[in-house]
Amino acid sequence: MSITPSTVGPAALELRNVAKSFGAVVALKSASLTVQMNSIHALVGENGAGKSTLVKIVAGLYQRDSGDFLLRGEEVDFSSTAESKAAGIAVIYQEPTLFPDLSVTENIFMGRQPTNRFGKIDRKRMRREVQGLFARLDVRINPDRPAEGLSIADQQIIEIAKAISLDARVLIMDEPTAALSGVEVERLFAVARSLRDEGRALVFISHRFDEVFALCDTITVMRDGEYISTDSIESTTVPEIVRRMVGRDVADLFPKQPAEIGEPVLEVVGLNSAGIFHDVNFTVRAGEIVGLAGLVGAGRSEIARAIFGVDNYDAGTVRIAGTTVPRRNPAAAMSLGLALVPEDRRKQGLVIDATVSRSTTMAIQKQLTKFGLLTSRAENAAARIWASRLEVKTNALDTVVGTLSGGNQQKVVLAKWLATNPRVLIIDEPTRGIDVGTKSEVHRLLSELAGKGLAILMISSELPEVLGMADRVLVMREGRLTAELSRAEATSETVMYAATHASEHHS
Ligand SMILES: Nc1ncnc2c1ncn2[C@@H]1O[C@H](COP(=O)(O)OP(=O)(O)OP(=O)(O)O)[C@@H](O)[C@H]1O
Ligand SMILES: [Mg+2]
Repeated sequence: MSITPSTVGPAALELRNVAKSFGAVVALKSASLTVQMNSIHALVGENGAGKSTLVKIVAGLYQRDSGDFLLRGEEVDFSSTAESKAAGIAVIYQEPTLFPDLSVTENIFMGRQPTNRFGKIDRKRMRREVQGLFARLDVRINPDRPAEGLSIADQQIIEIAKAISLDARVLIMDEPTAALSGVEVERLFAVARSLRDEGRALVFISHRFDEVFALCDTITVMRDGEYISTDSIESTTVPEIVRRMVGRDVADLFPKQPAEIGEPVLEVVGLNSAGIFHDVNFTVRAGEIVGLAGLVGAGRSEIARAIFGVDNYDAGTVRIAGTTVPRRNPAAAMSLGLALVPEDRRKQGLVIDATVSRSTTMAIQKQLTKFGLLTSRAENAAARIWASRLEVKTNALDTVVGTLSGGNQQKVVLAKWLATNPRVLIIDEPTRGIDVGTKSEVHRLLSELAGKGLAILMISSELPEVLGMADRVLVMREGRLTAELSRAEATSETVMYAATHASEHHS
């Protein structure tokens, strides 16, 4: 079934029985990973399995408690990220690390700006190199603009460009595609393959198995901080990998149950925001899940933010159950029963140093308050229900959210909004970064909520998710709705076509 890590020639990167604890939390018990040169190696495991912790040890951000760490056969010990970089390791972290005030170019060259012969920063050379990188990745981002305000996808692309520009021998990508859709992913994969063919070693962490199987040649599974198996990708299958990750079979991934579709609850009429989206019209009815598909940058998240009132818009009306939602007033939208699970959960959804308990109940504090008193017992009781429903992996409810694994932070944000018991739920990338076991749980939950009459607008870049979950699919392209497809009409072809072609019907 599984093969022991190969020892043919010195591996580019080798970790053996690595352990790492944070106080009482054991993140890694015995993690092993052997990555050969000329290889793209997948590292998979459930949320909280320890993948990012292992990456951060390789990056020099954390130091291991015990175990071996070798590069090309030589034992190494990094006490800083600079040492890891100098040894030829580049890392794309799961959480973007850009400095908002610096320009895109400055971010890419952070800490290593080239200087000219007068000792001044060589801006011309930086510009040239960035142009080369962007051409290779087919990126159209202004290199002089500040990083502030970039979409998650653009931030991720810049992280990728930054990592590639380091010309490293080992490139580790911790969920680099989480915010990207089809076209961008293909571009990244083409670059990854050419880096592999140049003899480099790549590690690819992802919860998207179609990508893992399309890109990687070898796959290592981790569970609960331990090494489980390493296989060549041809000799294994998705169900086999999932079984090892989760420890059980995960059956139906997209179980949208038929629900009774009722009255329109969310109505969006003629919504317009100059340069961002134009004349957007749609409704979502009670019991219905409407998928909003499209390429990254099509304007989907912007519409969600405008409806909820985080952003303004120029013209148009948003109604919930017939009542007009005032502009730029999220509190009013919430009291009308609207909830938005945003795309950028870390920035918009969480207070990183609050406890799991407080974070989960953040939006329902008023309801939990009795006689002006909010007891931690009430908070914990409410939080416990959601934490267990979404399988948030944490030692205790008073754990600080910022120390949870990426996927578990996502779950806390989901819990926070589901706890408000909304009438309309707008959910932007519901399962981004969430592992396969919990993914089906999130889908089951959405389906169940729709069954109870909730109207759901689901923005998703994952086609199987859209096709599996949505009763109706809206497709956006460059700020306009280009298609509305019934469940029967929606296929990957019809959705992709509408996402990439202008419509003849819509203005
Ligand atoms: N700085 C920290 N302090 C305390 N606990 C931590 C810290 N970093 C990680 N952990 C814990 O270590 C465990 C492993 O987390 P890690 O981020 O490595 O998981 P992961 O496999 O990357 O998961 P995901 O798929 O959700 O990104 C988790 O239980 C997490 O809460
Ligand atoms: Mg992680």
